[in-house]
This record gives sequence, structure tokens and C-alpha cells, in this order.
Amino acid sequence: MNLHIHKAVFPIAGLGSRFLPATKASAKEMLPVVDKPLIQYAVEEAYEAGIRHMIFVTGRTKRSVEDHFDTAYELESELEQAGKTELLKLARSISPDDMVCSYVRQSKALGLGHAVLCAKPLVGNEPFAVLLADDLMVGQPSITSQMVQQYAQLQSSILAVQDVPREQTDRYGIVSGTSIDNHLTELSGIVEKPAPSVAPGTLAVAGRYILTPSIFQELSNTPKGAGGEIQLTDAIAQLLKKEKVFAFRYQGTRYDCGSKLGFLQATVDLGEHHPQVGAEFAAWLAQR
Ligand code: G1P
Repeated sequence: MNLHIHKAVFPIAGLGSRFLPATKASAKEMLPVVDKPLIQYAVEEAYEAGIRHMIFVTGRTKRSVEDHFDTAYELESELEQAGKTELLKLARSISPDDMVCSYVRQSKALGLGHAVLCAKPLVGNEPFAVLLADDLMVGQPSITSQMVQQYAQLQSSILAVQDVPREQTDRYGIVSGTSIDNHLTELSGIVEKPAPSVAPGTLAVAGRYILTPSIFQELSNTPKGAGGEIQLTDAIAQLLKKEKVFAFRYQGTRYDCGSKLGFLQATVDLGEHHPQVGAEFAAWLAQR
């Protein structure tokens, strides 16, 4: 049994319609919170958890993500010639030497489950993480690190969860199950975006998963579900009939950066703590 997680899948082919007009011609994952694009926060989170192989499930309008994690020759040589060593270091740090990036195209918009299935040839037969970059997660250690630690104990699929107000259940995958301790619940059910009146609870899936490779078998057999899409949630519902699946209450904060409100909240919170501009920004916020 593989106790370590080496690979992370980033489904980034989504259209980002909740964030129009900004996402009309630009990748939503490239929207910056302060000075860093959303996808970089997610990749750094996976890297902090010891993951070195990043697999992006990408689409037609997402070329800028590939460029972001590639070498920028013109920029780097200009910075080098100008002696701007700190900025050069910053540009190079985006893609550390020991990090490998692979890209696979999701040519049809068939949903999150389909996106994860597209990564199968690159993931192979080992457990892996899934990070949804719209969910900007801040924790110490990172949320993915917390989950990787849990995986080493449980050796089962793990979903990051948080409590949400009942009126919001129709925005999330909602889990039910048996509570094991303050942090862990063994799943007995999961349903995608149930209406508040029928939701089996208020424990909602945040955009971080660790999945065993058996999920691919379930995904191949999953018909279209909510919204006419192949739902990862539906495949997990099948998986838990065969394997244990756990929900993990992570410690940290989640910002829904796929929404304008969540994005603004992230910008203010992270802006206040930014090493360069944080103090000045906090002072400005306090006196305006
Ligand atoms: C996806 C998942 C959902 C999960 C959510 C977390 O939904 O399908 O189960 O709760 O991410 O952000 P989306 O937000 O892509 O509609």
C-alpha cells in the first residue's frame, strides 16, 4: 500500500461563468489574489504537502496556466541583465526544479468527475490528491498537508469538509455518516447539491480530496447526474459501497474564489497579511 501521495490533479477546464465578465477571455484560475494567481496558491499547497507531480486537466482557454508554470526566457534574461535578482528568484520559484507538470485536455465540458477521469492515464494506479483552485484554502499546515497526514493513517479516500448554513446546501456535495472523532466522519452517503429541505446534513465538501485509484472504475461507470454533468460526488457515492471513505474537518479557512464575494474576502484577508503591503493596507482599511 502506497502511504505517500505523489500526484495532484487540478481540474481547470471550467468556464468560470460565475465570474463574468473577467473570465470571458481569461482563465479564472489566473485571477490574482493580491499578487498570485489562484492556481499558484493551489499548486504551492500541494507542493507543501510533499507532492511533486502536478497534473492539470485543462481546456482551450487555459494556455496561460501552462505558460505560468513554464520558464519565461525573455522575462528571466531581462531581469538577469538588469541585476534584479530578487524578482528573478521570484519568477523562478513558481516552478521549482523538482516539480513536474503534466497537462491533459478535457475536450468536452462534462463536469468534475469527467475531468478527474481524464487524468487517469497520468495518475495510474496510486492514490492522488484533487485540488479545486477556486477554493483558496489557508491553513497551517496547509489543508492538503493535513489530509496527506490523515491518509497515512487511514489509507482510504478522504474529503475535506466544513459545516455550512443549511440554506447553502445546494452549492455543495453534502456528506452523511458516523462521526469518529472531532475531525473524522466515516461516510455512509454523499449527494451533490441537495436542496436545503432534503439535504441529509450540513457537512459540505470543500475543494480538496484524496482519492484511491478505485475511483477511476467508478467514474467510468457514472452516468450524467446533476446539471447533466458526470459528478465526482456520484462516483464517490458508489466507491463508498466498496471501500471506506472519510470526511475530514480541516483546520483553516476556505475562500470561495469562484464567487465575487469570496474573492473579495480573500483579497482583503490575504492583503492584510501580505509581507510587502500588509501593514500599510491594514492601516488604510482601519482608517477609511
Ligand atoms: C464542486 C463539487 C462539490 C463541492 C464543491 C466545493 O462543485 O461538485 O461537491 O462541494 O466543488 O467547492 P462546484 O463548486 O464546482 O460547482
